[in-house]
Amino acid sequence: MRGRSVRSLLWLGLYAACASALADASAQQAYCEWQSADFAIASPLCGLDGDPARGRALAADSHGGNCLACHPMPIDEEPFHGTIGPPLQGIGARYSAAQIRLRIVDEKQLNPMTIMPGFYRDPALANRIAGEFWGKTFLSAQQVEDLVAYLVTLK
Ligand code: HEC
Repeated sequence: MRGRSVRSLLWLGLYAACASALADASAQQAYCEWQSADFAIASPLCGLDGDPARGRALAADSHGGNCLACHPMPIDEEPFHGTIGPPLQGIGARYSAAQIRLRIVDEKQLNPMTIMPGFYRDPALANRIAGEFWGKTFLSAQQVEDLVAYLVTLK
């Protein structure tokens, strides 16, 4: 009995964390359409400016982008960096902001088999998603722009 209620509390906490990350992301702004060309998205999502400091914090936040779970990054205060994805050190020297934007928004356009989630795919294309997550992107347009602003600084 006791074990069971502890477990359901844990689930509740996990659920609350995920639901609040999604609610934060989608409450900010309605989905903005984007266009890709030449493997890049030239215009900032919803015309927003990004903030590199917020982008760095979000990359490391396991309730946010959680980029560190898969990518080594120059964020030394966090001990664990996953290695499933390529290292993002120097990404700003290899790619333009527009190229980085598409990779965060929808890496599947470059590699349909990738395991990297499309953080700002058109929610209308999603399938097999639990009811309450319908119509939402994983990150808000502002969060994507903050990440782009941070990653271009990694030279
Ligand atoms: C589940 C693991 C996973 C997560 C989480 C993840 N990525 Fe990725 N990412 C990958 C993989 C794997 C690739 C390699 C591309 C492929 O699969 O074709 C990649 C590729 C990229 C690239 C292109 C790198 C290159 O050299 O071509 C960028 C930029 C990138 N990710 C940024 C991010 C950011 C920013 C986040 C957090 C918002 C993030 N990723 C979260 C797995 C992940």
